Amino acid sequence: MSAIAGTHIVVGITGGIAAYKSVDLTRRLRDQGADVRVVVTPAGKAFITPLTLQATSGNPVHDSLLDTSAEAGMGHIELARWADQIVVAPASADFIARLATGLADTLLSTLCLASEAPITIAPAMNHVMWEKTATQRNVESLRTWGVTVLDPRIGPQACGEVGPGRMQEPEEIVQYLAQSRSPGSLDGVQVMVTAGPTWEALDPVRALTNHSSGKMGYAVATAARIAGASVTLISGPTALAPPAGIQVKSVVSAQEMLAAVESNIDSTDILICAAAVADYRPADSMPQKMKKDAPEMTIKLVRNPDILASMAARPSPPFIVGFAAETERTIDNARGKLERKKADLMVANPIEGKDKPFGSDRNALVLVDRNTELDLGQDTKVKLAVNLIDEIAKRFHAKDSAKST
Ligand code: PMT
Repeated sequence: MSAIAGTHIVVGITGGIAAYKSVDLTRRLRDQGADVRVVVTPAGKAFITPLTLQATSGNPVHDSLLDTSAEAGMGHIELARWADQIVVAPASADFIARLATGLADTLLSTLCLASEAPITIAPAMNHVMWEKTATQRNVESLRTWGVTVLDPRIGPQACGEVGPGRMQEPEEIVQYLAQSRSPGSLDGVQVMVTAGPTWEALDPVRALTNHSSGKMGYAVATAARIAGASVTLISGPTALAPPAGIQVKSVVSAQEMLAAVESNIDSTDILICAAAVADYRPADSMPQKMKKDAPEMTIKLVRNPDILASMAARPSPPFIVGFAAETERTIDNARGKLERKKADLMVANPIEGKDKPFGSDRNALVLVDRNTELDLGQDTKVKLAVNLIDEIAKRFHAKDSAKST
């Protein structure tokens, strides 16, 4: 039986030539046993008639937010609660912008805002529109908030041009939805992520720190949650908003980060250390603001505890993933850290090229274990985090089943 049999799926259709494919999508979802309700925007109706969609979905089609007779049947709030999954295919540039800004001026955008169901969008548009900064920024925001974006395919377009903008085929969309309803790769798994920098106080107003923004660790925590894990995020000082559905513990120094990690470690299955922890702290933090009368100053530093290494040294450590930001000999240095700290996996990010990891939205990752390397390439931190969590899940489950045999 298909994983989507019996689920309530809202298919949203926005204005675009690919709307004709939504007839096939609706039919395929019904064939797999899903209960389907179609919501079509005014622009969508210019490409496909509600009558056709009613016939393929087997249910009345919803097309208006302010229609009293429709609201007397299944109104937008009821529809929002009814949905187990919302899939918008095709999703136009206009609709993506509405969703990203939280506009609620059509039935479909209101429904997406009012529903707690997972949202998947399959964009379709002219390739220049897809590649525009505004669209990419909106898509990135949606991804950060947990919307799944099924990237458009490259190929000939209705406008006669060739490029990325073709909607994924209905068969692929159905396959994705079925997979996403199957038990998640980290269902029931407890994940702890460290993120951001630490601040090591010199006095009440000054500190030693680094340029970590927390973006990589926050993206990893969000990807783990989407994969079904219960996630605790131990965060150094960052300017980022706490991600939805994740328990966040804010810390300042390495010692505080260690204490927060220790207090959660017994219930943790996977520990992912993306934080850039200060290796040293001032031996003495001055109680009052230091005066700057002297022409020179010497500050004595002492080693901070190594959080990752001390967790790996516990009698039954969780599966441990470290990060290594390297300026040279990236793989060798990352493997050295993997072995010295006794991690299961090290994620190397080179501090060179245009995608420098500190502070940026993009990164380049190579996974290093004792025997192999896997290059995940360059991409946004949000996308890399999804692929990274996939790899971590595979390796965690393989180690777990090896332990129990
Ligand atoms: O925050 P962003 O701006 O998005 O940038 C992301 C990042 C570059 C900070 C991140 O991707 C990254 O690489 N983090 C690790 C930085 C690093 O090189 O750490 P390290 O080589 O000092 O330590 C290696 C590993 O040990 C890391 O997993 C680190 O979290 C851990 N460690 C280090 C020292 C310490 N005292 N305790 C630790 O747990």
